[in-house]
Amino acid sequence: MSRFRPLELSRAGQRRKIVKKICLIVAVVLCALLSFTAFVPFRELSLHTRRPSLGPQSPVPAVHALDDGLALTPPMGWYPWNIFGEEPQNEKLIKEIVDALVSSGLKDAGYAFVGPDEGICFYRQPDGRLTTNLARYPSGLRGLGDYIHKKGLKYALYTDAGTRTCSTAMPGTKDHEFEDMRQFSEWRADYIKIDWCNTEGQDIVKTYTTLHDAQHAAGRPVVHSLCSWGDGYPWRWAAGVGHLWRTTTDICAPGQADWARAIRIAWANEKLSAFAGPGHWNDPDMMIAGMPGMSETQDRTFFSFWCLMAAPLIAGNDLRSMSEATKKTLTNLEAIAINQDPLGIQGKVIWADGTISLWGGKPLFDGSQAILVFNQGRHEAKKQIEWPEIGLDAAASCYVQNVWTQETSGPLTGGVTVSVAPDGVAMLRVSAKNDFPLPPIIVADSYLVSLRSTGSAPQKLSGAITITNKGSAELPLWKVGEGLPAWLSVAVTKTGKSQTFTSTVCTAGLKKGLYHAVVRADNTEPVSGKPMSALYYDVDLEVTKDVRGQLK
Ligand code: GLA
Repeated sequence: MSRFRPLELSRAGQRRKIVKKICLIVAVVLCALLSFTAFVPFRELSLHTRRPSLGPQSPVPAVHALDDGLALTPPMGWYPWNIFGEEPQNEKLIKEIVDALVSSGLKDAGYAFVGPDEGICFYRQPDGRLTTNLARYPSGLRGLGDYIHKKGLKYALYTDAGTRTCSTAMPGTKDHEFEDMRQFSEWRADYIKIDWCNTEGQDIVKTYTTLHDAQHAAGRPVVHSLCSWGDGYPWRWAAGVGHLWRTTTDICAPGQADWARAIRIAWANEKLSAFAGPGHWNDPDMMIAGMPGMSETQDRTFFSFWCLMAAPLIAGNDLRSMSEATKKTLTNLEAIAINQDPLGIQGKVIWADGTISLWGGKPLFDGSQAILVFNQGRHEAKKQIEWPEIGLDAAASCYVQNVWTQETSGPLTGGVTVSVAPDGVAMLRVSAKNDFPLPPIIVADSYLVSLRSTGSAPQKLSGAITITNKGSAELPLWKVGEGLPAWLSVAVTKTGKSQTFTSTVCTAGLKKGLYHAVVRADNTEPVSGKPMSALYYDVDLEVTKDVRGQLK
């Protein structure tokens, strides 16, 4: 008798086939679910009680590059929400913070955007126009902007895409998009954070697109910061209408850091690395380094994550009472260099074993790369990182700069061993050369030239601003954009790493009145050949009497 019973065998074979098919279908469904949840990492973090439900979605528009040259590296600055919440935001507080930004050395490390978040800074008048809340901002929101620009900083303001802001204390932009963006432009905002509260029934893509169009119509170049906490998957479409978008819910309740939540946000944000690049950034929220509840180790770890993930570096602590350790962390130029790298690549997780994780995938402009080893365990951990784990040949001979100890070792072959404290990181730059240049870090002595002509005879008046690169290289001469008004000319001269922009106005033939121009200049990072963020500054001219003569 044959050992095989063909009929039964074929039935068993069929059964196996059916089981296989079912397994395949289950696997496909599971994979689809997993990849979907990978792209909605913020869902599990959803603590935002005011989050509105999404309105109907419009089709995703083709992403197009913005040609304003803004935020080609992640924006750096300070915003009040994390530490203060709504109160006590007012002119005195913001000016004190501005002064502290300058005196603490944060400005010299590249932090530039600063201004009020939600706090009652404006109202809507019966005629529909926004007006400053003068009880809180006696110099007016334009006056505050001028103060900030004169200090060599950039002006950030806040509003909402819905009917009211999140607290409902301030009007939102819904149905007033064009007039509001015009008003923000008149206040001379350089950065506008636009929240997503009270937007019931609004289409998120259409709404933020309208706001983008309104910003363009207003004519002042502005960094557009979308704040929908990941709602509407902004990483899929917002690069066409803005420069950064929140990927997750708020990082903390005002006043108190939440370490565990911040780390969850880092893990959620890293999954979106493919969507970030020059001019369009994932924003895992403002920083909590230096806030109550954070240890020095946690501050450094947090800052390392934000630097490696090319996240906007918007400080959220009270700069007036910052400890020396916090200041040292926030101004570590080696870490900032990784964040401000001209290639603009967001780093991500390479592997994780539940306690230790290796983060990398961040090539830098000079051919080096940044990596980070994070310890989530309770004990100090020693770890050997092998070169092939970070894409290098095992036989490669490399130099390693430790960003936090500032030590350089090498040449090392095979890999590098690090010791990492609990909650700590080792953040390293690995290079074939024993040289770790800093990319451009731009600092201005002022962003506002104010000139005043007297009398009716033609005059030539000049005002200068100086732009310094705190990075390693001397930059090529900045190129001033075309299209300046006939009364204005700009000359650029260079002294080492500083360049002076001399703005000269000729008043011949001008009528009495106020004149204003925005000057744009562009440059290229010399090592990588990548374009740098465009530089913009304001020129104001007051002509007190009609002036004789013709323009030359
Ligand atoms: C939202 C934003 C915060 C802050 C508050 C203001 O929660 O995510 O960053 O702007 O609104 O109410």
